[in-house]
Amino acid sequence: MPSVTDRYDPLAAEILRDPYPVLAELRMCQPVFWHAGMDSWALTRYADSVRVLRDHASFARDPRRTGGTVPEPSLSVQTLDPPQQSHVRSLFMTALRAQDLTGIESRARRLVSERLGQLAGGGTFDVMAEIAVPLSVAAVADLLGVEPPPYGKFAAVSDAIMRSMDGGLNPALVEPGRIARQQLSDLVDSWFTTSTRPGLLAQVRKAAPPDSGALTQLYVKNTARVMFQGGYSTMAAAVGNAVQTLLAHPGALEQMRDPALLATGVDELVRFDGPVQGTTRTAVHPCRIGGVDIEAGQKIVPLFAAANRDPDAFARANALVLDRSPNRHLGYGWGPHACIGTTVAQAGLRALVAALNDQPARLAAAGDGVRRRTATMRAFETLPALLLP
Ligand code: HEM
Repeated sequence: MPSVTDRYDPLAAEILRDPYPVLAELRMCQPVFWHAGMDSWALTRYADSVRVLRDHASFARDPRRTGGTVPEPSLSVQTLDPPQQSHVRSLFMTALRAQDLTGIESRARRLVSERLGQLAGGGTFDVMAEIAVPLSVAAVADLLGVEPPPYGKFAAVSDAIMRSMDGGLNPALVEPGRIARQQLSDLVDSWFTTSTRPGLLAQVRKAAPPDSGALTQLYVKNTARVMFQGGYSTMAAAVGNAVQTLLAHPGALEQMRDPALLATGVDELVRFDGPVQGTTRTAVHPCRIGGVDIEAGQKIVPLFAAANRDPDAFARANALVLDRSPNRHLGYGWGPHACIGTTVAQAGLRALVAALNDQPARLAAAGDGVRRRTATMRAFETLPALLLP
């Protein structure tokens, strides 16, 4: 029998189907372990993950702080660390707070309701292609204030970028990811020069005019690309996972007709089976985590999926508790790199659940979904469902 650390192969069929039992075993017997495939120390305890995510002085996101390089197109809020990151992050946070999230939520709800109305009575459909992709592209485009690109074409570009996040495990994914990133960059550039609609993009463009300096301009454009692509892909994955969780928990959807449970429930859906499985930081100095000595320059991967089921942090950690409050899960990250789009994601998920409840037809599973072979993002490739009268 392979050791439990060897059994944590993020791309193995068993783990793609259900990573939680192996993660729980690791948390019990080897909470900090070396993962050769990821060339990193992996963390499974909530407290250890929060410590690393919070302490950006000791655990770098920016590879240049530990002797690495970052290609220019990747310099964004995601790859910079404070203090360089702080200006661009606050620019986007301020712009996001000024957007009409209620409007975005109600337009997303209408879009999902219309699509469900068309799908009702029409046989099996794929939740990812029919609901998750359109909802996510439309919500993020609405936030940015741009015309949504064609769903299928954009999904293909975004998928290539998402797959390249596993480039460490499969180097063949790196080049298609680079090409896709360039295509997306060209699209975002064209929005910068041509889009006249109000929205987040117009606001950050105003806050970072051409004379604000070449570096600020570069960071802003790259961050707008991350917002669009990262926001879309995590949102689409979250929608698929949420639908699967609701299908597996009869009664949960109905309970979320209660506005209080809708509000707390969408966070619990992300804790229970969120899309982002983990992130990477690099130790700036030698340190000790969970009794393990870590050298300067070694990579550390806080596994959100494991932390979010840690019984030391969450009562009934393996149960879906729709009224869980407080719910300080790591599904949206933590610290200076925590998700910028959390409120938009929450609005999108509320729109999804409300639209499902608006539908007179009842959503039912129509066979097993197929999980994507991606390690960083837990997502469905396809998720068949039916709307029953
Ligand atoms: C349910 C949907 C979503 C989930 C679960 C999610 C999750 C996350 C997580 C875990 C991180 C932190 C990664 C790390 O520490 O390395 C993150 C960062 C980020 N997210 Fe999200 N996200 C979602 C939706 C969105 C949306 C809709 C947007 C934008 C419209 C967005 C924009 C960002 C950005 C820009 C960052 C980078 C922040 C930084 O590094 O400072 N996300 N997200």
